[in-house]
Amino acid sequence: MDGSSSHSAHRNLAQAKDAGVAGDMRVPVYSASQLVEKLQSKRNAAAEQPYPAMYSSYSGGIVLDPAMMVLPMDDHMVHRGHGVFDTAVLLDGYLYELDTHLDRFLRSASQAKISSPFSHETLKAILIQMAAASKCRKGSLRYWLSAGPGDFNLSPTGCPEPVFYAVVIADNFSQRKQGVKVVTATTPMKPSLFATMKNVNYLPNVFAIMEAEEKGAFASVWVDENGHIAEGPNVNVAFISKKRELVLPTFSKILTGCTAKRLLALAPKLIERRILMSVETRNITLEEAKNSAEMMYVGSGLPLLPIIEWDGKPVGNGKVGELTLALSDLIWDDMTTGPDRIRVPYEDGAPQHSRL
Ligand SMILES: Cc1ncc(COP(=O)(O)O)c(C=O)c1O
Repeated sequence: MDGSSSHSAHRNLAQAKDAGVAGDMRVPVYSASQLVEKLQSKRNAAAEQPYPAMYSSYSGGIVLDPAMMVLPMDDHMVHRGHGVFDTAVLLDGYLYELDTHLDRFLRSASQAKISSPFSHETLKAILIQMAAASKCRKGSLRYWLSAGPGDFNLSPTGCPEPVFYAVVIADNFSQRKQGVKVVTATTPMKPSLFATMKNVNYLPNVFAIMEAEEKGAFASVWVDENGHIAEGPNVNVAFISKKRELVLPTFSKILTGCTAKRLLALAPKLIERRILMSVETRNITLEEAKNSAEMMYVGSGLPLLPIIEWDGKPVGNGKVGELTLALSDLIWDDMTTGPDRIRVPYEDGAPQHSRL
């Protein structure tokens, strides 16, 4: 990535904004009510409000006013990146795979040495009530567990109370059937300790997607130090070999994708229909991957995205593969009509059933 041109573009923009203002710039000191008014006018200026609800255990409740969706500045997650997060798709009144995402969330929290103030079931009850309050029917939940506010030190010992934050993000997504281009990432990938827990340190992931976008691609693919395929910046990758096998990289050094796991559970249906030969996770070399018949990204919110070009060369015949589309249909049907166990209704605001 050529950082120098984008740096000078940023500098020029800052200088242009400063022109004629710098000398007599006066910074107001706001009262609380003035600040609220200011934040509301900024948020209300947006054509649409994409965040219909937020919860914070710091305040202990839900807010619907986007101007009030704020975090304490001295939160260890804000200034040191000491926090973990997760997501879940919200579709037609159901939360998809919420339990699986919450299991990973609590696993990430324990890896990050943050003790959750709430059990799995309480987190679930809060998210269901927030989703209900949002009245949103399509989008996603994103939620964080932070070491919490306290001070600005490196050590979290001054942060007595871990905090759970959550937000609803409205998004009009649909099944993705058009193929995209990808590139191999040159941004170094995270070591496995940090890649296997879903923590908020996503700078390498941000750089990896910026690098892809600068090269005209949708996103990138990481290859590990042993030459094995890893993952994309916020997605897993999957391949169909020329022998019609579905192969995904093992999850030992990357994030265990909830969508990828669900895909692995559903894909045997295509073996029963005799259009797929086998399903497995294993190490995949770059050479083997580049020789695949089909390739796709897998992740919440996609849920599956065909890849037709990699590093300027066609994947397989360069068209969206038939098995990719069959897998995409399987997972989309699961999201829209799948079993009760994985689709949690939220619109009446109370958990319908406990899995315990
Ligand atoms: C680095 C990374 N890999 C893979 C994934 C895909 O995981 P999931 O299917 O749970 O969204 C994500 C998204 O959460 C991610 O951030």
